[in-house]
Amino acid sequence: MFKLSAIPSKDGKIALVTGANNGLGYQTTLGLAKKDILVIMACRNLEKANIAKNRILKEVPKAKLVIMQVDLRSLASVKTFAAAFIKEYKQLDYLIENAGIMIPPFQQTEDGFESQMAVNYFGHFALTQLLLPLLNTTPNARVVTLSSKAHENGRINFKNLNAEKSYKPMVAYSQSKLACLMFAFELQRRFEANKLTTIAVSAHPGVSPTNLFKHLPIWLRVLTFPFIPLTHKPKNAALPILYAALGTDINGGEYCGPTGFKGLSGAPGKVTAQLHAYDEEVSAKLWEVSEELTKVIL
Ligand SMILES: NC(=O)c1ccc[n+]([C@@H]2O[C@H](COP(=O)([O-])OP(=O)(O)OC[C@H]3O[C@@H](n4cnc5c(N)ncnc54)[C@H](OP(=O)(O)O)[C@@H]3O)[C@@H](O)[C@H]2O)c1
Repeated sequence: MFKLSAIPSKDGKIALVTGANNGLGYQTTLGLAKKDILVIMACRNLEKANIAKNRILKEVPKAKLVIMQVDLRSLASVKTFAAAFIKEYKQLDYLIENAGIMIPPFQQTEDGFESQMAVNYFGHFALTQLLLPLLNTTPNARVVTLSSKAHENGRINFKNLNAEKSYKPMVAYSQSKLACLMFAFELQRRFEANKLTTIAVSAHPGVSPTNLFKHLPIWLRVLTFPFIPLTHKPKNAALPILYAALGTDINGGEYCGPTGFKGLSGAPGKVTAQLHAYDEEVSAKLWEVSEELTKVIL
C-alpha cells in the first residue's frame, strides 16, 4: 500500500500544482514539499496563495515553494503562465492538474467555453500542450490529471461540449471530469507512440468536503448530510494524487483512487474507470477538437 512516509527525498525535482492554495491541491503541495520537491503553486489568487504558502512553511519550514499566477479560465493567462514557466525552469517532473470548479451557474469564458469545461479541462489541456517541450525532455516526468467518480455518468457530447444547446451543471461537470480522464489516457498513448519516458496518470480523490461544493444547493446539502461519514478529509483524499505522482509501481495510463466503500474514501490504490472512458475513438476526436478550440498545436 502507498505510504507517503515511505517515499524518499525527491530533492532536485520540480512539481507544478494548479489550484495549490486550497483543498486537495493544498494537501498535495504539502505532501510534495515534505519530499523536498520544489513546488510551483499555480494559483489564480495571489493573496490566497500566499496564505497557503505560509501555512505550509509553518508545518514544513524547509519547504521550497514558489507562487505563480494563472487563471485556467483564460487561454491568454495559461499561455502567459506557460511562457514564464518555460523561461524560468528547465525541467518539470510532476505536472499536477488539480484546479477545478463544480456546478457553478452558467458562465461563458472569454474563449467561448462553458466555465467548468474551461477550468477543469480546456485550461489544463492547453497548459499540458504548452509545457510538453519541458515534459518531454525531463526523464520519467509525470502528468497527473484529476478526474472524479462523476466521470461515470459523464458523456462527451460534441454537440453540447460548451453548453451550446443546454446547461445542466452536473452534466457539464461530469463531462469535464470524463474529458480529463480521457485526455490522460490519450496523452499516455501519444507518449508511448513517441517512445518517451514521460507518463500520464489520472487520479480521483473519492469525496472530500472542500470548497468545491460551495455551489451545492442547500436542499442537496441536507439530503447528503447523512453520507458525510462515508467521505474523507482532504489530507486523505489527496493521497491518490500523491500516489499517482510519486508511487513507485505506477505505470502510464493507470488511474488511482480510494479503495474503500464505493471508492468514496479509503486507502489509495489503482482503480478502474468506467468502460466508456477507455474509448479510443472518442478520446482521439476530443483531442482533435480541443486542439482546434484552444489553438495550441505544437
Ligand atoms: N473534493 C472532492 O470531493 C472531489 C471529488 C472529485 C474530484 N475532485 C477534484 O479535485 C480537484 C480539487 O478540488 P477540491 O475539492 O480541492 O476543490 P477546492 O477546494 O475548491 O479547490 C479548487 C482549487 O482550484 C482553484 N481554481 C478554481 N478556479 C480556478 C481558475 N480559474 N484558475 C486557477 N485555479 C482555479 C481554486 O482556487 P480559488 O481558491 O482561488 O478558488 C482552488 O485552489 C478538482 O479538480 C475537483 O474536480 C474533488
